[in-house]
Amino acid sequence: MHKLSIVPMEESQLDPIHTIERACFTDAWSRNAFLSDIRYDKGVCLTALWDSRVAGYLMAVIVLDECSLNNIAVDPSCRRKGVARALLDRLLAICRERGCASVTLEVRESNFAAQSLYLSYGFEQVGRRERYYTSPSEAAVLMTKNLDRREEAGGYIERGGK
Ligand SMILES: CC(C)(COP(=O)(O)OP(=O)(O)OC[C@H]1O[C@@H](n2cnc3c(N)ncnc32)[C@H](O)[C@@H]1OP(=O)(O)O)[C@@H](O)C(=O)NCCC(=O)NCCS
Repeated sequence: MHKLSIVPMEESQLDPIHTIERACFTDAWSRNAFLSDIRYDKGVCLTALWDSRVAGYLMAVIVLDECSLNNIAVDPSCRRKGVARALLDRLLAICRERGCASVTLEVRESNFAAQSLYLSYGFEQVGRRERYYTSPSEAAVLMTKNLDRREEAGGYIERGGK
């Protein structure tokens, strides 16, 4: 039986995290970008461990009551096992604890896997930015999930779309 756990990101995990980042993105974040978010007091940086191996990560920032989900990726060999869902579930739980009103993100227009994931959580498209991404140049779809505080009493409905 495999064990999936979500833990706060540690600097000692940056080697495998950066290997996954480079495998996933043509415009990969630098190691320093990860490091500065880990050290940023508003950063929410999570690592997914599949047994004890780094399988994925999520990088977000919470400022006042707004959360920006800036990066999420899963090792290609660990996909479709619920790793991204576990990371998003934890982020939404943290947002709920901190009283966030919304979570926003940008995603490449051609990235249907990620868009399907977000749609299944009730994220909605709220805009589009031409040529937002480089390597290759591509538009970004802006998505937002409003966290309805009225749901708090009965527990948030975290997968709004399902
Ligand atoms: C998008 C990504 C993070 C999903 O990770 P994952 O661990 O495989 O996702 P999960 O197993 O938790 O899947 C959750 C849901 O996402 C959707 N999904 C994930 N991969 C999908 C795919 N290839 N095609 C369609 N839907 C997909 C499905 O709704 C899935 O639920 P289901 O398996 O019950 O159908 C992963 O494909 C990835 O790392 N991609 C490269 C990096 C990236 O694009 N990050 C997003 C940047 S905005």
